Amino acid sequence: MENIVYLNGEFLPLEDAHISPFDRGFNFGDGAYEVIRSYAGKFFRMDDHLNRLLYSLHELMIPPVDITSVSHLITQLLEKNKLAMSDALVYMQVTRGVFPRSHQLPSQEIRPTVFMSVSQFQPQHDLQETGVKVILFPDIRWTRCDIKTISLLPNMMARNKATSEGAIEALFVRDDIILEGTRSNFCAIYRDQLITAPTSRFTLAGVTRKVVLELCKSVGIPTYENPIYANQLRHFHEMMILSTSLEVTPVVQVDNTIIGDGKAGEITRRLQDAFHKLVEKLQVQAELS
Ligand code: PDD
Repeated sequence: MENIVYLNGEFLPLEDAHISPFDRGFNFGDGAYEVIRSYAGKFFRMDDHLNRLLYSLHELMIPPVDITSVSHLITQLLEKNKLAMSDALVYMQVTRGVFPRSHQLPSQEIRPTVFMSVSQFQPQHDLQETGVKVILFPDIRWTRCDIKTISLLPNMMARNKATSEGAIEALFVRDDIILEGTRSNFCAIYRDQLITAPTSRFTLAGVTRKVVLELCKSVGIPTYENPIYANQLRHFHEMMILSTSLEVTPVVQVDNTIIGDGKAGEITRRLQDAFHKLVEKLQVQAELS
C-alpha cells in the first residue's frame, strides 16, 4: 500500500518526508491540526474544518495557510494514495516552522511547516451499535481548549487511563462540569431534550457537534447549550460522544454508572439515522457530480 504524504508543497513517500529537529512543532508542540473525513471521496464539512484551522492559527499567531488550495491538495493526496473513491481520514498539521529553539516567538517571518497524510478509514460500527463505556478524568489541560493545538499530552494521558479501564474515551471534568472528551464532544439527553456544554475556552467547537445541533433542529429535538454537572449523570436518559471519527457514538456507562437502560437510546438512534442520511446525501451528490 502506497503511503504518499504532503510536506511543504511536495508530495513524497512517507520515508522521504523529513522535518528539522528545530521545527517548533517538535520542540514546543507549537502548531495546530485538523482531522477531516472523506466519505467515498467527498469531504465532510471541509469549510468548517478549514475555518477552524484558520481560527487556531490566528489565536496562536501563526501565519494563515492558503486554504483555497487545500481541498485540491487533499484530493490529489487521496488520488496518489488510491483513496479517491474510499472512505478516508485526512490529517493536516501546521506548525510555526523552523527556528532556533527559544520561548520567544521568532521576530522574523518564518514559513509554517504544512504536513498532510491520508489513510483508509471505517468507523467502529459495532461501538455505534452497542454503545461504549467512558470514564471521567480531571481536566488538567490549559484554558484555551478552543484552539485545536497539537499539544495533546493531557488528552493522551486521559485516553490511556480510559483504555486501562476498558473504556474508549475519557471525559474531562473541571469544577464538576463535564466539558468534552479527549477527542470528542459530549452531549446528554434529559427526557426529549439534548444538552451539550456551550462553546467556550474550555472546549473545542466540534464540527460533528455543530452538525448534530443542526440535525436536532431539523428533526425537532430541542437543544440546550448548558453546563452538564458530573453529579447529574445518573439522571440522564441517554448520552453520546461526537467526533469526526466516532460520528455519533452512544455512551452507556460512565465509570460505574449505567446510563438509561445500558443500551443506545431512542434519540441517539434518531440522530445516528439522521447523520447517516446526511452522509448518504453527500455520496449521492458525489456520484451525480
Ligand atoms: N478530535 N474535542 C476535542 C478535544 C477533539 O480533539 C475533537 C476532535 C473534538 C470533536 O471535533 P470534530 O467533531 O470537529 O471532530 C472535540 C479529532 C477527531 C482527533 O483529534 O482525532
